[in-house]
Amino acid sequence: MSERICRSLIPKISVIGAGYVGEAAARHLITREVGDVYLFDIMEDVAKGKALDLYHAAPIIGTNRRIYGVNVAADGDGSEYAALEDSDVVIITSGIARRPGMSRDDLLKINAKIVRDVADKVQKYAPNTIVIVVTNPLDVMSKVAFQTLGWHRDRVLGQAGVLDSSRMASLIAAAVPCSATDVDAIVLGGHGDTMVPLVRYTTVGGIPVSELLSKEQIDEIIQKTAFAGGEVVQLFRNSPALGSAYHAPGAAVAQMAEAIIRDQMHILPTTVHLEGEYGYEGIYMGVPVQLCNSGIRRVIELELQPHEREMFEKSANHVKKTTQEMQALLGL
Ligand SMILES: NC(=O)c1ccc[n+]([C@@H]2O[C@H](COP(=O)([O-])OP(=O)(O)OC[C@H]3O[C@@H](n4cnc5c(N)ncnc54)[C@H](O)[C@@H]3O)[C@@H](O)[C@H]2O)c1
Repeated sequence: MSERICRSLIPKISVIGAGYVGEAAARHLITREVGDVYLFDIMEDVAKGKALDLYHAAPIIGTNRRIYGVNVAADGDGSEYAALEDSDVVIITSGIARRPGMSRDDLLKINAKIVRDVADKVQKYAPNTIVIVVTNPLDVMSKVAFQTLGWHRDRVLGQAGVLDSSRMASLIAAAVPCSATDVDAIVLGGHGDTMVPLVRYTTVGGIPVSELLSKEQIDEIIQKTAFAGGEVVQLFRNSPALGSAYHAPGAAVAQMAEAIIRDQMHILPTTVHLEGEYGYEGIYMGVPVQLCNSGIRRVIELELQPHEREMFEKSANHVKKTTQEMQALLGL
């Protein structure tokens, strides 16, 4: 009885996919004591091993939160997903990276199938949770989860903008130089080369960034932000184990989960299903969103200047095209 009472006071976050990003997210979540974390993976015992390893650090980190690993069979009935029950937030990072010889369509199909299967289990075992998708291609995988779950868009979100904005902010901090925590940057749009950094809204300690850096410096930072993920992949090239960035992506999705669980009302660039905002319907795009304990509290529609609108449209058209390709491939 007492155990049930205690349990209900501790938020539960499930992370499906205990790869690099899932593990990094879990580490942030327990370090910040956001809740207990359940890591799920199809690689037998890997999630359990990572959970155990992370928990061994609890006394050093100084956290009271627990972390558990759950094995899920690749071709079973999915009953192991019963461990999702009562999750406040479910983070989906399960997927594969593109391998040599694999086309973009192949990757899209494989990851869409993984996300669809996982979303089915979330629907079955955690029907009241809030889902944050991380698996790439992010905008399209968020739509796959949304269509599979059939929930209101307030509870099916994607992570991209928090990461892209943090990358831009860190590059600004290094250029000024100043504390990274003084920088507020915002990047909207689709996740990828067509992202939309909004320099007009970027400040350092409340001061517009244009007062502190030259136009050339800002342009260079914008370019570097768009290719930041690719730069990390390139730097990892000599390690057979490493694929793409994971520390910052894990921290980004953990920040979103914390904002939701703690009902912080933070306004964060979040990938959401547009339903008329910014002139678009039926695609997932990054826009400013106020997050609360029921997911989206409010989608904020900014008055974009002509050059910003042009970038946003380019990005939206790219996402729309990929979303339609995915729907045709999957017969949705
Ligand atoms: N949205 C973003 O900003 C962002 C940033 C970085 C990475 N990503 C994406 O996140 C995903 C994860 O990246 P990563 O570096 O952690 O990859 P990873 O390969 O290290 O981890 C993926 C994990 O998913 C597991 N998995 C696969 N199918 C599964 C299933 N059906 N059920 C449970 N687990 C399953 C794999 O076994 C693996 O451990 C990739 O799609 C990557 O492209 C997105």
